[in-house]
Amino acid sequence: MKIDYDDMDLSIIKEAAQIIRNGGIVAFPTETVYGLGANALDQESVKKIYLAKGRPSDNPLIVHISSIEELYPLVESIKLKAKILMDLFWPGPLTLIFPKSKIIPDSITAGLSTVAVRMPDNKIARELIKYSGVPIAAPSANISGSPSPTKAEHVIKDLNGKIDMILDGGSVRVGLESTVLDVTRDTPVILRPGGITKEMLEKAIGEVLIDSAIISEKEFVDTPMAPGMKYKHYSPKAKLVIVEGEINKVIEKINSLAKENKEQKLKVGIMATEQTRENYQADLILSVGDRDKAETIAAKLFDTLRAFDEAGIDIIFSESFSYEEIGFAIMNRLKKAAGYNILRV
Ligand code: TXA
Ligand code: MG
Repeated sequence: MKIDYDDMDLSIIKEAAQIIRNGGIVAFPTETVYGLGANALDQESVKKIYLAKGRPSDNPLIVHISSIEELYPLVESIKLKAKILMDLFWPGPLTLIFPKSKIIPDSITAGLSTVAVRMPDNKIARELIKYSGVPIAAPSANISGSPSPTKAEHVIKDLNGKIDMILDGGSVRVGLESTVLDVTRDTPVILRPGGITKEMLEKAIGEVLIDSAIISEKEFVDTPMAPGMKYKHYSPKAKLVIVEGEINKVIEKINSLAKENKEQKLKVGIMATEQTRENYQADLILSVGDRDKAETIAAKLFDTLRAFDEAGIDIIFSESFSYEEIGFAIMNRLKKAAGYNILRV
């Protein structure tokens, strides 16, 4: 496997594009998380993605494009609301679901009649797509179930030796996967919350619903509309427990849980924030960001979860964060990572 660090060198991007054209798989940065890409129009290439990630084949992939023109051959129709959102939010962390055209192989959509498409807001990603000359199917470039990769190092850790190339574009900007929105219905439905929030969408197109599977707080939902939402996700190897409530009570509870677990000879980690980190005692205390700037928490969430594993922590206690705006997506990922193991104080 080849790893390149000079992300802005066009010759490297062209080399990666050649690999995609030849049926290989390449990890690349987007503004949300790193993706693992293959030629979306080639069934055999797409199969390699599922194999490398250990991804269940009933979980469909997002197709990435670099310009609006590339969308038309992929879909049967585009509703007015979708057009408005594309104008406003593409390139950016918004994936839209369309009725698929015949050129989309079934392995991408897991047999669904719809296809998920997005245009990433990252220059390396868009140049890779452009020079490949084909749309690129890409899930997050992690082993299925582990926290999504927000740095090339995370991809190396999970997929070294299993893929053909990694384009290293440094740390990603957003840190959580894109918002997935089903725009095939009259009232669009959020299937996965992300950086483009319900409020932002509603301001543009009026009422937007949230898939009940996101709200129901169950680890396993049989038939969520985004098939990927039913699997255990984003999980560190360590056990993760969220403590929710008024912040002073949360600190007190986490400290007493840390002490109890320490007495049981477990290595204890605490996921704190800039505002609270000084208040804890444990083997490893990491700040995930600034409580008053949710985007800093989004950007560091997966990296921090991975850091506890790197340090060999057995159990992590995490504070809970605001549900406002991108906080809704943060809490969605954190709860899934914890397997809905939440203590309310
Ligand atoms: O930000 C992102 O979206 C990243 C970067 C790499 O673009 N990609 C990503 O892909 O998160 P992945 O495969 O980890 O998640 C794709 C999600 C899954 O929940 C999947 O079930 C859903 O999108 N999805 C894909 N196609 C769908 C479809 N036709 N209908 C409903 N949900 C779909
Ligand atoms: Mg993923």
